[in-house]
Amino acid sequence: MYYIGIDLGTSAVKLLLVDEEGSITSTVSKSYAVEYPRPGWSQQNPADWWEAVTAGARELMAGVDTAQVRAIGTGGQMHGLVALDVAGEVIRPCILWNDGRTDEEVCFLNETIGRERLSELAGNIAFAGFTAPKLLWMRKHEPDNFARIAHIMLPKDYLTFRLTGEFATDYSDASGTLLLDVEHRCWSAEMLEICGVSEAQMPRLMDGAEAVGTLSAAAAQELGLPAGTVVAAGAGDNAAAAVGCGAVAAGSCNISLGTSGTIFIPSDGFRVDAHNALHSFDYVEGRYHLMGCILSAASCSGWFVGDVLKAEGFDAEEAASDPAVATVDLPYFLPYLMGERSPHNDTAARGAFVGMRADTSRAQMVRAVREGVAFAIRDCVEVARSEDIRIERSTLCGGGSKSALMRQTLANVLNIELDLPETEQGPGYGAAMLAMVAAGDAPSVEACVGRIVRTRGSVVPDPQAVAAYEERYQIWRQMYPALKPIYRQMAR
Ligand code: XUL
Repeated sequence: MYYIGIDLGTSAVKLLLVDEEGSITSTVSKSYAVEYPRPGWSQQNPADWWEAVTAGARELMAGVDTAQVRAIGTGGQMHGLVALDVAGEVIRPCILWNDGRTDEEVCFLNETIGRERLSELAGNIAFAGFTAPKLLWMRKHEPDNFARIAHIMLPKDYLTFRLTGEFATDYSDASGTLLLDVEHRCWSAEMLEICGVSEAQMPRLMDGAEAVGTLSAAAAQELGLPAGTVVAAGAGDNAAAAVGCGAVAAGSCNISLGTSGTIFIPSDGFRVDAHNALHSFDYVEGRYHLMGCILSAASCSGWFVGDVLKAEGFDAEEAASDPAVATVDLPYFLPYLMGERSPHNDTAARGAFVGMRADTSRAQMVRAVREGVAFAIRDCVEVARSEDIRIERSTLCGGGSKSALMRQTLANVLNIELDLPETEQGPGYGAAMLAMVAAGDAPSVEACVGRIVRTRGSVVPDPQAVAAYEERYQIWRQMYPALKPIYRQMAR
């Protein structure tokens, strides 16, 4: 038997074929473009996702007996606003999770409606990437488009719609809309009203491991798969990644370094941190989680090494980037290339190198970028620590975790052990696991973790480097508050 896990990422969709023992028998990745129509804006065409999925599925299944495919699960980039008209056609490009156009709407929600009220209604305050401010933006700037909305959904739910014809979402992804009453797992009538939409426009709410339905005849034909294939509701990519890494039970933790960087802390009960700096979201099978999300993680090295240095090979560039012990006089980097979500909630924040000298080397700058990402994750960990949440160790996944230097830097900066799952394909693997449960081939997500998730090793912090990074972090963390007023002036 096989299960297909689909990770609908920002730069590409990754498809995994997983057998019932949990072995990944093949993977396919198909990339697509992100449009940046204005500085700080980012959007994508849902049709491109579907085209990539259909082409990818056919490649994935080459030489495989398709009759053996039992179920499909999806994990997707969160928060994106996909709006369909009454005929099921996409109305405008999807506004992505790292789009910063909604400053005014975020201000309205946080200041006029008020943070406390939002937190009561939706368990969260407004951040620019969330879906609710995007609806308000669309209502103001594209009233004709807004009036045509018949169905609102998240990116992976658009795939579910194309796969099954059903409008459904799961609780983890729905949490990031700011339209869900996260604690009670239902759409918030008041939040819907504030945004000028109705429950009839919202997708059906389901657990990620529940079956939405089966492949429609049309989708089955397009994908070259059997029409009876079960489709799971799936999850937001971070929840799917946590499942894929085995971070399901309270007390576990997962860190993901993809385009964004996240720290994902599951819990049995609902809770919010003192300032709602972390997201308070639902998870699978009745659990909740707290999550810190930095908007630019692995993408920072991609930007600096690829776009700026135009280096031939990332690995060689990385290997040259000075693995010596950290000292306070080395340059620093703030990774806010798309503004920042957690914990600063500031669309005006920007990237910065600080502390350059005439003898600063290319290698030191590459290193500063890596460290800046680790420090930004540490900022989120510090919020959790301030809430007495003890993070003793964490699993680590995502493209950024392929770099040994990044893994060691992160372990040293956070001073925790990092466990490396056998696959760093967190969301796709977790999505395949949700598919297994939805098909009835595993009794629960937790049982599935026990059965198939395996680690291949761990990274232990080096005490000497921990002390050196502590000093560097204490300097680094003063830089954003110092630059904040300048960022404000630049954004005017
Ligand atoms: C999480 C978030 C990102 C995207 C990336 O809140 O915005 O991690 O899900 O795909």
